[in-house]
Amino acid sequence: MSDFICAYQERAEMALSLYLPSGDDEPCRLHQAMTYSVLNGGKRIRPLLVYAVGLMLGASNDSLDAPAAAVEIIHSYSLIHDDLPPMDNDDLRRGKPTCHKAFDEATAILAGDALQAHAFYVLADNEHLTEKQRVKMLIILTEACGSLGMAGGQAIDLESVGKALTLTELENMHRLKTGALIRASVLLGAVAGNADAKTFEILTQFAELIGLAFQIQDDILDVEGETALLGKQAGADQTLNKPTYPSMLGLQSSKEKMQYVYEAALNTLKQLDFNTAWLYELAAYMVERDR
Ligand code: IPE
Ligand code: IPE
Ligand code: MG
Ligand code: MG
Ligand code: MG
Repeated sequence: MSDFICAYQERAEMALSLYLPSGDDEPCRLHQAMTYSVLNGGKRIRPLLVYAVGLMLGASNDSLDAPAAAVEIIHSYSLIHDDLPPMDNDDLRRGKPTCHKAFDEATAILAGDALQAHAFYVLADNEHLTEKQRVKMLIILTEACGSLGMAGGQAIDLESVGKALTLTELENMHRLKTGALIRASVLLGAVAGNADAKTFEILTQFAELIGLAFQIQDDILDVEGETALLGKQAGADQTLNKPTYPSMLGLQSSKEKMQYVYEAALNTLKQLDFNTAWLYELAAYMVERDR
């Protein structure tokens, strides 16, 4: 793994520990479920995107900690709810029992609710960003996790079980359930770095493409990956009859599609007049990963 990725995964861990409430504070069980589900070895791809974009544009480390933590807190909440029995009913997450298994279903629902609210608090209450930046970031993040973003994508995912989607419908579902938060991560970095309109536009294109490549790889790993390495149950999509790229295109064509979208994402970076080295490294990490 690159030095950038190692160093900023560590920074993201520190920011998350700092911003999360302690498990010793009342109500302890709820706070413990929250920290259990966030501080548990995720890859921290979304914070890494915030840092890579923001630093590329000249933002300071300090100004990126809150947006990086906020988007990862939202992501962690989405995973807690994604794993619940009425959704994907998974027992394993990041190599450990899912939140509802380690605690109980009601606590897992509340931990997700509280994490979502807390993410917005972390972003709003931050002295390293201007008020204008904070409002822009709040709009980006709320849009990305609401009914026209992640939650909407999850609704489509659940409605689509056992159905034959068109490729356009599948891509739209991925764009919302996973793409929206990846896109938001890139845009939070762009706001912190005061990107001009043209840069913002190019970064949006990059984010949308790399977000799609990322979820295609997630679908591929569900087929090809090993549970022990993935830290989550392999083969879960097939068991639940989920529409995925491999289920629609087969494994080989899914890999070709992923490669095509990944290269398109890298091509957008060529239009930027900034040092994109870290974004290249991160894009490679997002698709070459085995967990
Ligand atoms: C998994 O996301 C869920 C999806 C949205 C595909 P990640 O692969 O980023 O999971 P963690 O955060 O590293 O556990
Ligand atoms: C999850 O997609 C997307 C969100 C959590 C919003 P998946 O259901 O494919 O994620 P995994 O495979 O359980 O991590
Ligand atoms: Mg799911
Ligand atoms: Mg799932
Ligand atoms: Mg998956």
